[in-house]
Formats: sequence, structure tokens, C-alpha cells
Amino acid sequence: MRLSYENRRYVETAKISACHIVALDEYLDKKRHVELKMDQALLLIHNELLGTHLTVYWNSERCYHCLPQALVNVSGSGKRGKPSIAAVAVSTQHGSILQLNDTVEEKEVCRLEYKFGEFGNYSLSVKHVNNGVSEIACDLVINKNPVDSNLPVCIAFLVGLAVIIAVCFLRFLLSLDDFNNWISKAINSRETDRLINSELGSPSRAGLFGDDAQPEVWRPCAVPPRLRSVDTFRGIALILMVFVNYGGGKYWYFKHASWNGLTVADLVFPWFVFIMGSSIFLSMTSILQRGCSKIRLLGKVAWRSFLLICIGIIIVNPNYCLGPLSWDKVRIPGVLQRLGVTYFVVAVVELLFAKPVPESCASERRCSFLQDITSSWPQWLFILMLESIWLALTFFLPVPGCPTGYLGPGGIGDLGKYPNCTGGAAGYIDRLLLGDDHIYQHPSSAVLYHTTVAYDPEGILGTINSIVMAFLGVQAGKILLYYKDQTKDILIRFTAWWCFLGLISLALTKVSENEGFIPINKNLWSISYVTTLSSFAFFILLILYPIVDVKGLWTGTPFFYPGMNSILVYVGHEVFESYFPFQWRLQDNQSHKEHLIQNIVATALWVLIAYILYKKKVFWKI
Ligand SMILES: *[C@@H]1O[C@H](CO)[C@@H](O)[C@H](O)[C@H]1NC(C)=O
Ligand SMILES: *[C@@H]1O[C@H](CO)[C@@H](O)[C@H](O)[C@H]1NC(C)=O
Repeated sequence: MRLSYENRRYVETAKISACHIVALDEYLDKKRHVELKMDQALLLIHNELLGTHLTVYWNSERCYHCLPQALVNVSGSGKRGKPSIAAVAVSTQHGSILQLNDTVEEKEVCRLEYKFGEFGNYSLSVKHVNNGVSEIACDLVINKNPVDSNLPVCIAFLVGLAVIIAVCFLRFLLSLDDFNNWISKAINSRETDRLINSELGSPSRAGLFGDDAQPEVWRPCAVPPRLRSVDTFRGIALILMVFVNYGGGKYWYFKHASWNGLTVADLVFPWFVFIMGSSIFLSMTSILQRGCSKIRLLGKVAWRSFLLICIGIIIVNPNYCLGPLSWDKVRIPGVLQRLGVTYFVVAVVELLFAKPVPESCASERRCSFLQDITSSWPQWLFILMLESIWLALTFFLPVPGCPTGYLGPGGIGDLGKYPNCTGGAAGYIDRLLLGDDHIYQHPSSAVLYHTTVAYDPEGILGTINSIVMAFLGVQAGKILLYYKDQTKDILIRFTAWWCFLGLISLALTKVSENEGFIPINKNLWSISYVTTLSSFAFFILLILYPIVDVKGLWTGTPFFYPGMNSILVYVGHEVFESYFPFQWRLQDNQSHKEHLIQNIVATALWVLIAYILYKKKVFWKI
């Protein structure tokens, strides 16, 4: 399909750079015979209607309220029994809607919905059926079966599962050994046991993994033990982020949603923001308890945010092969920039209203039931105000040439009525304040919705909601600290938040991808996106906290290591993306299998790097 191919190239150049511009000329030469790309199938359209020219329109099932796009014209058959044939490539990612019109009369001849399979070969024949009335039938025949494009993912999943089971089994055997040691030690006197241990200088297991109740009593100046579940969760989000940023095997569900909706790739950034919020609270509380002044801490927060934003701007502006980037094209927003701003706002608000964590909550049940929330009412008030600003700007800001409160992708969406309205108020604010050239040029809506205006998924308005997300993370941190050592209280609160935020999401979205009051949308960072993802985040903590921190059943390996070195892994994976061995020349560039292997290897390498650095105690802190 012509349009789709060109757009695909357009999107890929966003990352791979303009080096591939030659590929288009090669393609134009070969245009006469269709060459199938990844996620495409061959469709031969046989027109057996004498003298009737057909225009074939195509649309993806996923494209919401989209204008059908002209795919190909098929001239009428000249002679009975000699159909004229046109060959086109159709996308196989989602279901297709094909509409065949009489070119002259603009009348619909037939319409069909079908999910084509990758690299399949299909024939669609259009002919008169001889049953007296002149009726037209469109029949789809499979000439060659498609390949199963999800097979590599299934295999990778099963291999991963096998590795996990093998590791668990090994650990079980080792623990049996431990068990034996324990028995023999128990027979000997305690004293010799202690002597042997100190002689060999090996620390006790309990000290390493903290699965016993934390031995230190809570002292005001003590550094709180780092919560392993929080680091593990951060690591999970980070590793998924590396994998999807590297391409995720080029599967659509490992890429960002075109507009509304949720894919695996859309999960990771908000989780990262959420965990950042928890960490802000946990570390700030401990620093304040050690007697650091608020002013000094404020200076530190400002400096860190500034560094994050600077590093972020450098990372999103690589020099492409076309030559160095000009100053007028520097992209300003980005992932680290948004993290920096979010960090600054949340840390400052928490710092301004910080109250010492009440001892009573930790030791005995003298706190009120909602102490963790009531004690931070000024922060909540601030967050509610911010959220009102988001709602007001999103739904009431007049945008020239666009309907007020527009949330759609523009382009061919909404029947092509608002092509330049991508992102409504959010897009307008960025284009107004930063300028068209200083924001992201290839939003994920470009392929499916054919949007042409620049739109930045990390824009200004969405930052409000990322602050809300981080604040929900702060709340998780508060629960963990206020109700320390009361596992049941913590789990009850996690469950309550999970359900509460989940219910809000259900109401906001009306359990629909596109039809809700506020659909889930990564590009807009809509509030339903935040409530859904934080609901998931509370659920993950609900699982991880008891397993990792309370019972010590899992140490968080291997996710724990990248989680401890997140800035390094994030910056490193972006900078070294196109270096060997994170990327290499593929035998078949159109094979999901090869891309998947490459991306998994690259991701695993970053886990390994994080592990080595952890062992060498190298951490990049800013
Ligand atoms: C697709 O199938 C048709 C009909 O069987 C055949 O003529 C054509 O060569 C096939 N095309 C490819 C690329 O396999
Ligand atoms: C959208 O923008 C393009 C390019 O800037 C322009 O040519 C076109 O007329 C605009 N369309 C509308 C409906 O404003």
C-alpha cells in the first residue's frame, strides 16, 4: 500500500535518521511489482465486471471514524473470462475494511471486513452472479496461507518461562543445601557457629536479604532500609522501556498506540513516574530526618531537575546522517525533561508541606484511619487544583480552527474534518509556546491517522497529569512509611487505591477505547490514562511488596539491578542504541523474529551491564 509505506518510512526516519532516503528511490523503481514488507499481505483484486472500473478504499479497523483511503484503481475487464487484476499490499496489523466503489458512479459495489495474515497471498474476485438478477459478488480466496507472526513472541515467552523455572529449581536445590547446613549447625553449639562465620568473614543470610523482620528499630536519624520492591518495580518498568524503545520486535503491541488505547509500550513511562514519586517521598523523609535543612534540599532538588532537563534535551536531539541539527529544529520536550519538571514540582510541594512521619503509626495503632491522606491535605489540594487546570484547559480552551475540547488525533480521523487539530488544546499550547519546529515531528498517530502537524507526546499540558501520577506514587510511599511493619494495613491500602482508581478509570472511559468521556490516551496523558496506570501500579506493589520485602521469596533479580541504576541505563540505552552489539545487520530486515531476537539481546545486555555495575558499586546519581 503506497501511502502506508511512505508513512512508515517517515516514521522510521524519526529514529533511524535520514540515511535511508535512498531506500525510497529503490522502492519507486520496483513499484510495478509489489514487494511485501513486515505486517503486510498481498491482495490480488480480480475485476471480472465488463467495462466497470473499480476504486478500492481501505481502512483499518483500529482507525476510529476515519476517512477511507483510496488504495488502488482496477480497470474493468475487457473480455468475458479475462479479469483485469491489480496487486496491492495490505496491512495485517489489525482488521481491514475494504470498500469497492464503481469509479464512475461512485456507488458502493461491495464491502468486506477481514483480518489479513502476514505474508499471505489473497485474491478478491468481483463478478456477476448468474441467478437471473444482476447481482455482484465479492469473494475472497486464500492463495497462500499467511505466516504466524506471533509465534516468535510465544516462543520467547516460553523460553523465558523455562529459564525462570530452571532458576527456581536451582535455587530450591541450593536452599536444600542451606537447609542441610542449618541442621548440622543447629546440632553444634551457637558459639562455634558464630566463630566459623566470623572467621570466614561471610555475612549472615539474614543481613543480605532482610527477610527477617528488620532488625533495626526505627530511629529518627536512621536511614530507612531501601525498599527492594520499589527498586524492583522501577527496574521492571525500565527494562520494558528499553525493550520497547529498541523496537519490541516491531510488533504493534510493543509500540505506542496510534491514538486512544493502551499497548505494552504505553505502560512503562507512567510506572516510572509513579515510582519516582514513591522514591521522592522515601528519600526526602530520610534526608530530612537526618537533619538536612530544607533550603539545602531545595537547592539540590532544583539542581537535579535542571540536570535531568539538560541531559534530556541532549538525548532527544541526535545528529542524523543528513548532517548536524540546526538550532531552529532543537526539540525541547522529552521523557527526561518531563521527569525533571515532574520531579521538581512534586519534590518542592512535598518539601514545603513536609511533616515528620508520626512515630505512632509505625509502632502502634494510634493514627487515625486515613492519617496518610489527612496529614497531606495541602498537597492534595494543590493536586486537585492542578487537575482542574488540566480539565479546564483541555475542555474549554478555544483553539483556532478546531472544536473546543477536541481530544482526537486530527488527520483522517473524525472523517477528516479537523486535519490540523491533532491533540486539541495540548497540541495547540505546545505549538504556540514552543513552536512547530521545537516539538516532536513524528507522533504515533502519523501512520494510521495520516496526521501531518507536529505533536509532542511529552508536551506541556500532559506534564500536569504526570505530576498527578507522581503524586499518586508519593501516596504509595507514604503508605509504606506510615504503616511500616504493619503489612496488613499496607496491603489493605494498596488494595483500596487499586480498586478506587480502577473504578474511576472505568467510569471515565465507559469501558471503551474511543467512546468514553475521557479515553485512555498516552499522547495526551489523559487523566483516565493516569488513573488506569496508577491503578495497575498499586496492584503491582500489592503483589511485589509482600513477595519481595515482607516474605523475601524473590530478591527482585534481575530487575532490581537496573532499578538501582535507572539514569545510567536510560541514558546509556538511548545513546548506544545504534552501536554494536545492541544493533546489527539483520539477514531479513522484514522478519519479526530477527528483530525480536535483536531487541531481547540488547535489553538483556543492559540488564547484564546494570548487574556488573551493581557488583562494582558504580551508580550514576544526579
Ligand atoms: C499469489 O497467488 C497467485 C494465485 O495463486 C499467484 O499467481 C501469484 O504468483 C502469487 N504471488 C506471490 C507473490 O506469491
Ligand atoms: C492544515 O495545514 C496544512 C499545512 O500547514 C494546510 O495546507 C491546510 O490547509 C490546513 N488545513 C486546514 C483544514 O486548516
